[in-house]
Amino acid sequence: MKRVITFGTFDVLHVGHVRILQRARMLGDYLIVGVSTDSLNLQKKKKKAIYSQFERMEIVKSLQYVDEVFLEHSLESKGDYIKNNQADILVMGDDWKGRFDIFKNLCDVIYLPRTEGISTSEVLENIKASA
Ligand code: CTP
Repeated sequence: MKRVITFGTFDVLHVGHVRILQRARMLGDYLIVGVSTDSLNLQKKKKKAIYSQFERMEIVKSLQYVDEVFLEHSLESKGDYIKNNQADILVMGDDWKGRFDIFKNLCDVIYLPRTEGISTSEVLENIKASA
């Protein structure tokens, strides 16, 4: 039984999110998702998420490919999250390519290509432009 772990903000869910979660789940048997806390997101992206960390967790948990969710409080704790969840594979979008190779001593590290032409930022821009 292979356990897969991945991380992200998953604000204003879109098809790019759904596809990476589906592909991550297909690499193993059980998918665990670390959802960035509001404060980690603010630190990482310099902007406030639209949905709260609890709403984002609830939405991600409801997806059929996702088995378990938890809050990612700190970028520095990735190694601990991988160990505590006994993950065999870490999946990240290829926007992070190479950045997580340091965890190759703990698990396999796989970067999946992002879905082209969509992101939460772009969705929000489109909504603003059409308002
Ligand atoms: N992702 C993807 N394809 C996209 C957008 C995101 O595969 N078009 C993946 C990311 O690589 C990451 C996960 O989805 O592994 C969560 O990404 P997140 O940062 O929450 O989403 P973005 O839409 O990129 O958000 P933003 O525009 O705020 O940066």
